[in-house]
Amino acid sequence: MKQLGAGIAITGSGSATPAVSLDNHALSKIVDTSDEWIRTRTGIESRHLAKAEESLTDLAVASASAAIAQAGITPEDLDLIILATSTADDLFGSASKIQANLGATRAVAFDLTAACSGFIFGLVTGAQFIRTGAYQNVLLIGADILSRWLDWSDRTTCVLFGDGAGAVVMQASATEDDSLLGFELRSDGKQNDCLKLSYRSGSQELTSNVSVGSGSYRPITMNGREVYRFAVQKVPEAIEKALFRANLNTEEVDWLLLHQANQRILDSVADRLKIPQDKVLSNLASYGNTSAASIPIALDEAVRAGKIKPGHVIAASGFGAGLTWGVAIFKWGR
Ligand code: COA
Repeated sequence: MKQLGAGIAITGSGSATPAVSLDNHALSKIVDTSDEWIRTRTGIESRHLAKAEESLTDLAVASASAAIAQAGITPEDLDLIILATSTADDLFGSASKIQANLGATRAVAFDLTAACSGFIFGLVTGAQFIRTGAYQNVLLIGADILSRWLDWSDRTTCVLFGDGAGAVVMQASATEDDSLLGFELRSDGKQNDCLKLSYRSGSQELTSNVSVGSGSYRPITMNGREVYRFAVQKVPEAIEKALFRANLNTEEVDWLLLHQANQRILDSVADRLKIPQDKVLSNLASYGNTSAASIPIALDEAVRAGKIKPGHVIAASGFGAGLTWGVAIFKWGR
């Protein structure tokens, strides 16, 4: 009999994006930019934006429900929920609310913050709980509403991002059927200043000699050129390393699934790895950069379109603020 416990199967995906979208032409009326500039520099044509009353929790729950249904399990089957996000509705975390709204009564839930690498970091984290035999059914959600944190007068950042959520279900499988074939996770805090959504402290005096911080978060700031340089150098290296660990070569990869930041980054990484364009998943024209949500949204679209089939090998990589970057090489389905 096959032993459950050490292997991982990724058995369901789902995604949800806000109904409202804003195309480059409409954006050029708000900020000094143009459709031509945004399309040629990034490949982005439009982005979905959450209304003020739309919550990250609602988007996350919608994507999670679809993933749970596709996996053929119920919320009560879940042991663990990981929410990868940098834009929780509540700084204490939004995963518990998602757990309650899903009715995942048995599951423990927590947030994980690693910006645009969050989904990959979450995938590897969730996999460890399955590999140790502690948990059988793990829900991983990548969700972000970065539109809340943009300076909409800063054309160097606001044109790039959009909102959304994507989710996968990971389940225990036989050791010999393990679908997580290799991974590589990295951080370089020396480059932290390149991309930030940082707390700006004011000061509040409590007594004559005790004062505490009292501030807010300032909008996203970014050194676009440095982030670009970082991505095109570090991501191919990390993919090669993870493929080596998986004992696979690039020809054995069915789909290259990169964080959807910029089409030029996707093209450059694929070129360096000599992976042909028809194996590169790209949907950023419609969504922009949705941070932790971008990989699972693109994954879910490709699964539902019948492009990704059970047994296909996917090389997925997230990269972004921290700076952080990560790769997971995995097989889709059981
Ligand atoms: N519309 C029109 N012009 C713009 C603009 C916009 N939205 N944003 C910047 N510009 C201008 C700049 O002011 C600059 O003008 P100047 O030459 O007169 O000074 C010019 O365009 C070129 O700017 P530059 O920053 O050199 O452009 P670029 O070719 O490096 O492209 C990015 C900028 C942001 C698209 C690119 O650097 C990038 O994609 N970086 C990675 C960012 C990213 O993905 N971040 C998230 C990672 S998770």
